[in-house]
Amino acid sequence: MVMIVVLSFLERAHSQVLAQGQSENRPWMDKALSPDRRADWVLQEMTLDEKIALLHGNGMPGWPRTVPGANPCLGNGGAGFVLGVPRLGIPIIQMSDAAYGVRSSGENGRYSTALPSSIASAASWDVQAACAYGALIGRELRAQGYNMTLGGGVNLTREPRNGRTFEYLGEDPILAGTMVGNRVKCEQAQHVIGDMKHYALNDQESGRNEVNVIIGKRAMRESDLLAFQIGIEIADPGAVMCSYNAVMGDYACENKYLLTDVLKKDWNFKGFVLSDWAGTHSTEKASAAGLDHEEPMDDFFGEKFKAAVEAGKIPMSELNDHVHRILRSEFASGMVDNPVQKSVVDVEGGFDISRHIAEQSIVLLKNDQGILPLDRTKLRSIAVIGTNANTSMISGGGSAQVDPPGHGATQWKEHVWFPTSPLKAIAPKAPEATVEFDSGADPASAAALAKRSDVAIVFVYQWESEDMDLPNLSLPENQDAIIEQVAAANPRTLVVLETGTAVTMPWLNQVRGVVEAWYAGSKGADAVANILFGEVNPSAKLPMTFPRSEADLPHPRLVTPPPDKATEGKLTFEVHYDERLKVGYKWYDAENKPVLFPFGFGLSYTTFSYSGLRVTTGSGTTVGFTVKNTGSRAGEEIAEVYAALPANAGEPPKRLVGWDKVQLNAGESKEVTVPVKTFYLSIYDEASDSWKLVPGSYTFMVGGSSQNLPLVETVNLK
Ligand code: BGC
Repeated sequence: MVMIVVLSFLERAHSQVLAQGQSENRPWMDKALSPDRRADWVLQEMTLDEKIALLHGNGMPGWPRTVPGANPCLGNGGAGFVLGVPRLGIPIIQMSDAAYGVRSSGENGRYSTALPSSIASAASWDVQAACAYGALIGRELRAQGYNMTLGGGVNLTREPRNGRTFEYLGEDPILAGTMVGNRVKCEQAQHVIGDMKHYALNDQESGRNEVNVIIGKRAMRESDLLAFQIGIEIADPGAVMCSYNAVMGDYACENKYLLTDVLKKDWNFKGFVLSDWAGTHSTEKASAAGLDHEEPMDDFFGEKFKAAVEAGKIPMSELNDHVHRILRSEFASGMVDNPVQKSVVDVEGGFDISRHIAEQSIVLLKNDQGILPLDRTKLRSIAVIGTNANTSMISGGGSAQVDPPGHGATQWKEHVWFPTSPLKAIAPKAPEATVEFDSGADPASAAALAKRSDVAIVFVYQWESEDMDLPNLSLPENQDAIIEQVAAANPRTLVVLETGTAVTMPWLNQVRGVVEAWYAGSKGADAVANILFGEVNPSAKLPMTFPRSEADLPHPRLVTPPPDKATEGKLTFEVHYDERLKVGYKWYDAENKPVLFPFGFGLSYTTFSYSGLRVTTGSGTTVGFTVKNTGSRAGEEIAEVYAALPANAGEPPKRLVGWDKVQLNAGESKEVTVPVKTFYLSIYDEASDSWKLVPGSYTFMVGGSSQNLPLVETVNLK
């Protein structure tokens, strides 16, 4: 006992001496100073070589080349690492992809939780869920030895066939920006550097290195860029990753308008810009445009950069600004003050969070004759049908991929099924019923099983990945036919979608129920079963429109690069975003195109009514109304507020300007107040390069989906 007291006294004395010594020799280690001050101080001490070392990555596992002299052992198996400055106490930045969980755990034999995909989390419209999502990833990154995330994808769903739609947060800039902001804010609270990507307009994967995006300033500022702007405002992220594509003739990673004029000047972004992997194309041009850091190599921001500085082609002040930004993010995130220590991931805790977020993310799209929730007391037989529905559920691929436990490292573009078994999750919910499985490989056999069952639940999937787009929005692998045959055999057919984007549903009228489970993560099957049997009342709403067919999209045909291999990596084709501001529901509204399921749509096992709209103006705009639970069970309603701008604003018919998630017991009413920022009612005026509120009449609309807005009030705003 005495011994322990003496030891701990000695330890404390020792660490006090160390701390004093540190603050004398390394005054920048004083946490009371601002991140800017600390960064300036370190910068003063750095040699040119040390500065250059911060400007680039040092290779990654599987990359064909390594940086000469870089010790690959210093990496942690992640997508990139940046040498620190040990002499000055600046640690190595260890980066990992972490879109829906920490990637590459298989490679280093570690474990990560798979959360529902980002598009799923957007369907929760829940900022607390977004925060829990980010915090979990932050904790697991650190447990695995990483201090920077490469997650935070927020490209707008302009093109629903984009193979990365599952990694993003839907088609509305205010919803997507709010969700990514809350996610990254909570990620960074775990002392990792946060990241938002892919800046900007990387809205399709086909020809992502060859495509030049053509779009006007107003259209980009009010759509894709607005999502980033809102996210950055909320989270103050340490990093923004510029994208592969070009915008208006310049690659995003050497685009002065995007990186300097908008991001750093207009939005006052204080962090650093890193290139997407091999997305750097020049030294001087990129540096002057505002790129701070190259990944994963040093092709342009290594020796060439040093030579350019020595030759006076890049001013020292420009180099210092890059370095300052990187150091500032390191201090601001707390990764310097809280060095990473590998530890054991809380597996059970991760399961709970993943399941809970999935339950908040699963959208009930159709529920005819109240077939759901299933009544276990009335079911004697259940057919569970679909590829792997006995063992697992699909996950999204590419750099977002989380490796399933025990699977080892996954291959690029491998279809990865997570071990969360719908069959095993459903069986215990109805202990009196016989639960049988059929893969659907032979639709006739699946139909025969459906025929002799009380209810048939068909699990269908559509796999997506980075580095590819979907050819169309149809379910692959003959799954439409399986559903049709099963539904013909038993009208009590339910479809559970495991998709990362919208799908078309030629069988919609033949089935009783449809549930969109997205890529549901480590505990997806439990979440689905809890929804199907009513242990959880669904509350999620679509963060993107489900169109009737590709013919209704702004670009019915996906614009793809010329097939010539020789022109790979060169700007060879253009995508003209002529739909301009009309992204997602704004397009279908403006063009009067009926849709399969509108943006903001989702059913509950109870019903809600809206009344008493009061729009108050003055120092700010506030939208107040009452929501009542008119059904017989407790539920949560996402109440949505839209605004139509004055006609001379030249805007699509309406835009989402706010929402609230309201928890209501059966019969209960609540008054809801949604403050609406003036900014969210403004337009981007190209003539003055600024946001403006157009004076005139604004119509506010409130309800449960973008196409069900019973409350309407028009006010004048000046
Ligand atoms: C992706 C990025 C990712 C990077 C590192 C790139 O191919 O576009 O999103 O962070 O690889 O893995």
